[in-house]
Amino acid sequence: MRTLLAIAASTTVMLSAGLATAQHRKHQDQMGRMNHMDHGAPAADSREFVKFPPELVDHTLANMRDHLLTLQQINEALATGESEKAGKIAEERLGMSSLRLHGAAEVAKYMPQGMQDAGTTMHKAASRFAIEAQNVGVTGEMKPALGALGEVMSACVSCHAGYRLR
Ligand code: HEC
Repeated sequence: MRTLLAIAASTTVMLSAGLATAQHRKHQDQMGRMNHMDHGAPAADSREFVKFPPELVDHTLANMRDHLLTLQQINEALATGESEKAGKIAEERLGMSSLRLHGAAEVAKYMPQGMQDAGTTMHKAASRFAIEAQNVGVTGEMKPALGALGEVMSACVSCHAGYRLR
């Protein structure tokens, strides 16, 4: 029990360290834009290394590239006024419906809790975006959909800030 608590506590510390690093980097970026002379030293890599079996690393990275492609296709569909299509793409490829497609159950057992949580946050946010994207057709109001899409991206960002596979 004590070990479990210790693990939980250290995961929390590492997660907040990851977040702090992300915020620090953001701050540095802002400073960088304000003062182009100040390039600063690159921040040390504080991401937690997560050991996946090699074939699962390849599978996960391929999935990741599809995640980015998906964001591009969602953006394109929104830009051409096809918000329903954007919602459908999000639900099928990133949302709760995509869990089986990605073999999530098999991969999840190698992930620390914080990484699993980031994944769950992303899937839920994508499903929320899908609903907001459907609503655009009714309300003509794009802002809630864009906000939900931002939450999807922030789940990508926070997991990337905390974990690495190689
Ligand atoms: C649960 C954690 C997690 C989430 C959520 C996540 N990623 Fe990743 N992603 C990773 C990890 C870990 C890597 C590997 C980093 C490394 O070790 O190089 C990665 C790598 C990538 C790569 C590089 C792939 C390659 O071939 O090297 C891309 C692109 C990427 N992610 C896109 C996304 C996008 C877009 C999203 C959100 C829609 C997303 N990821 C959400 C964990 C996550």
